[in-house]
Amino acid sequence: MTSKILIIGSSGQIGTELVLKLRQIYGNENIIASDIRKGNHEVMESGPFELLDVTNKDDILDVVKKHNVKQIYLMAAVLSAIAEISPQRAWALNMNSLFNILNLAKNKIIDKIFWPSSMAVFGPDTPSVNTPQDTIIKPATVYGISKFAGENWCSYYSKKYGIDVRSIRYPGIISYKTIPGGGTTDYAVEIFYEAIKNNNSYTCFLSENTTLPMMYMDDAIDATIQLMQSDQIENYVAYNIAAMSFSPKQLAIAIQKYIPNFKINYKADSRQGIADTWPKSIDDTQANIDWNWKAKIGLDELVKSMLQGLHYNV
Ligand code: SER
Repeated sequence: MTSKILIIGSSGQIGTELVLKLRQIYGNENIIASDIRKGNHEVMESGPFELLDVTNKDDILDVVKKHNVKQIYLMAAVLSAIAEISPQRAWALNMNSLFNILNLAKNKIIDKIFWPSSMAVFGPDTPSVNTPQDTIIKPATVYGISKFAGENWCSYYSKKYGIDVRSIRYPGIISYKTIPGGGTTDYAVEIFYEAIKNNNSYTCFLSENTTLPMMYMDDAIDATIQLMQSDQIENYVAYNIAAMSFSPKQLAIAIQKYIPNFKINYKADSRQGIADTWPKSIDDTQANIDWNWKAKIGLDELVKSMLQGLHYNV
């Protein structure tokens, strides 16, 4: 039996599209989707799916053995806004899941891991414009703390046990197939759903000039797969990647190009406090040097693709 790739968190925003793209590349039957809940019908119908709780290491081992899994993409996580509400649950899930997978590699049961980190590792002391790869990292959110701890554990396992684990610090990811759950950058997805409804208006939970690094899903998926396929990676690095930065106001203006009567209002809530600690823009030179990374999709194309994806004629 040929070796397989397991995606944990396949019903989530990134997991959904990762499964579909990996199935295109490696064949439907070679990509095992798994999540604690069923997902998108395309994922459920195009190949194998296992119901799986990422905190249960015995169940993960059963699935790994059953399908002869050699690579795992661990996409299950509690995101930033929910993590502030339930810190211990977020810490337990984000950390225990990672240990479960790192230990499979340490025990030589699997041989490659992708683990997503985030721009949320950066905090208020970090230079916020063109944030460098190596800089002051003192996260100020529960989610950021879990991601930075995770980066350090990946680095530790990689050095101490020689395992192959790879990470990207994702910016906010914009897509239409599966909605994100519980993040601070979610406004930039919600806005499109509201913009095409009858009243063409959206009340944003971040203030108008809150600039954050963002990326269209296709670029995020390409980056992930490109990093995993690269044969140039020698040491563990949680890579900065970037595509564009915009504020709610700038996104609204970009949407108004296609929906002229679209209106945006602002009512900042507690998520503003999270966003205020994150970078405005990211320097991804090292990813470019090490594995040739470069984003392809800019703001106008993102807006057009989102509206088309949601069946709005542009
Ligand atoms: N999109 C994530 C969030 O907002 C950031 O990694 O929590």
